[in-house]
Amino acid sequence: MAPPLQPLSANENNLDIRAITEQSRKGMVKKMNAFELLKADHDKVGKLLKRIDETTERGVKTREDLFTQVKSELDLHAQIEETIFYPALEEADATRDITLEAYEEHRIVKQLLTELESMSKDSEEWTARFSVLKENVEHHVEEEEGEMFPKAKKVLSKEDQETLGTRMEEAKAKKAQAKRA
Ligand SMILES: [Fe+2]
Ligand SMILES: [Fe+2]
Repeated sequence: MAPPLQPLSANENNLDIRAITEQSRKGMVKKMNAFELLKADHDKVGKLLKRIDETTERGVKTREDLFTQVKSELDLHAQIEETIFYPALEEADATRDITLEAYEEHRIVKQLLTELESMSKDSEEWTARFSVLKENVEHHVEEEEGEMFPKAKKVLSKEDQETLGTRMEEAKAKKAQAKRA
C-alpha cells in the first residue's frame, strides 16, 4: 500500500511532479525497455538538430533556445548511457569494443557542445561547427542503433533490458524534478 498523498502545495511545479509521480505509481506511464527509451531520445534529438540546422545567423534567438534544449537533452542522454547502459555492455566481449568507442564519441560531442555554447550564435563559425556536431551525433546514433543495440540485445536478457530501461527512466525523471525545483 502506498502512503497517503500529502496535501498539495500551491506551487505549480510541485503539482506537476505530483501528477507525474501519481501517474507513474498507477502504472499509467508506459514502461519502455532500454532500447525503446534510448531510441525515443535519439529521435527527439534528431528533430531538434534538424530544426537548428534550418536557422540562420539572423535567427539567433530561436537558435539559442533550440541549442539550449538540445544540449540539455544530449547531456542527460549521455549521462544515463554512461552511468547505466554502457557499464552493462562493457563486460561482455561482443559489446566491449563498440562501447569503448562510444565513450570516446561522447567525449567529442560534449566538447563541441561546450564550445558551441560559449561561441556567438550569429557567426559563420558557429554554423560550421554546429554542422560538425550534427554529423558526429548522427554518426554516433547510427552506430548505436545499427551496431551496438543489435549486439546488446544478444548480451542482455529481456529482464536486463527492462531493468535498465526503468533505471534510466528514473534517472531522467529525477533530473527533471531537480530542474523544476
Ligand atoms: Fe544514444
Ligand atoms: Fe551514445
